[in-house]
Amino acid sequence: MWDDLWTGAHLATMAAGEAPYGAIEDAALAVQDGRIAWLGPAAALTDAPERLAGRRHDAAGAWITPGLIDCHTHLVYGGDRTREFELRLTGASYEEIARAGGGIRYTVEQTRAASEEELYADALPRLRDLLAEGVTTIEIKSGYGLTLEDELKMLRVARRLGADEPVTVKTTYLGAHAIPPEFDRRPEDYIDTVVAAMPEVAASGLADAVDAFCERIAFYPEQIARVFEAAGAVGLPVKLHADQLSDSKGASLVARFAGLSADHLEYTCEEGITALARKGSVAVLLPGAFYFLRETRLPPIEALRKAGVPIALATDCNPGSSPVTSILLMLNMGCTLFRLTPEETLAGITRNGARALGLQETHGTLEPGKVADFVLWDIKHPAELAYRIGHNPCRQVVKDGKVVRG
Ligand code: NIG
Ligand code: FE
Repeated sequence: MWDDLWTGAHLATMAAGEAPYGAIEDAALAVQDGRIAWLGPAAALTDAPERLAGRRHDAAGAWITPGLIDCHTHLVYGGDRTREFELRLTGASYEEIARAGGGIRYTVEQTRAASEEELYADALPRLRDLLAEGVTTIEIKSGYGLTLEDELKMLRVARRLGADEPVTVKTTYLGAHAIPPEFDRRPEDYIDTVVAAMPEVAASGLADAVDAFCERIAFYPEQIARVFEAAGAVGLPVKLHADQLSDSKGASLVARFAGLSADHLEYTCEEGITALARKGSVAVLLPGAFYFLRETRLPPIEALRKAGVPIALATDCNPGSSPVTSILLMLNMGCTLFRLTPEETLAGITRNGARALGLQETHGTLEPGKVADFVLWDIKHPAELAYRIGHNPCRQVVKDGKVVRG
């Protein structure tokens, strides 16, 4: 006998295959021990629901999707960058502000000054915004501490959020995010410290992956290659902020290290795309940052499609380039700004988002054996999730087989 059975549902399984959205209409879904035990057309159930499951739930026509996955965020940080927003509106560019010592460095100052408690209290409402929209897995980066101690402080906050809230948190050490003020004009020396910190970061158990910022206002590929080699030596997978503001050869660098994902990619060239495709790395597109920085260069969507690179979407929630805590808005922006299809955007925050975090075996689709993370939506068709703006049709969230919302 199953623990739980949902009937009266339509499923957008998002499993790769023939049917759009992997849809199964008039379906049922069973859960046992926190995993999906069975799913299929309700007509295929072998007995009456009350004889099949201890608890029965009537989905009353809801669509069920996999739990949503936000695979790229900087959710934990001190302060905000409202002042910078105002400056940009009077003409200063993101890059100019960064070069003048503002931007990420300003957030570093604020984050260093904040206690773990304060960081936690600031991040929690941002996390809750995302959970209210059906997010059940989130990646959270460090990167605003830039000393080992402050980076670990951020990662501890991220882990605590995952322990306290109904969400799987994957953490990422982003030591090579910016050159901290005390290493001004000495990027190589700073990279030495990031490399030297790697064994301790790994031993702390606080990081699941390593990220870096490859850009002319941050670090060069050769510098990041040293960080990635150190990550590989301690068994941590890598990913990269790649080609966001210029073609920095970031995508090729990710491929060289068989990274989980290359993120942003507005300026990625053909060669980078081919390299990603060869290694099976995911392209993580971040429409919130594209929008908020008023970027005009589109990521190479058609070339990514043609090459068969899996495309994920994420909020990039951060104070400087994407103060976004709505994953549903990313669906809409993925369609309106990047011309992705609604189905592609939904795959981007389910199946491909899981893959970007190395969770493709357990998360990201509705399939027997996978973790029972799923969301019931008051919608008539899955495309509606990308279509509307400012409306949240999330009715119920199930995490590890337990109803945690609704
Ligand atoms: O993903 N590109 C670098 N990192 C962040 C922005 C960080 C910030 O401006 O605080 C991003 O856009
Ligand atoms: Fe980012």
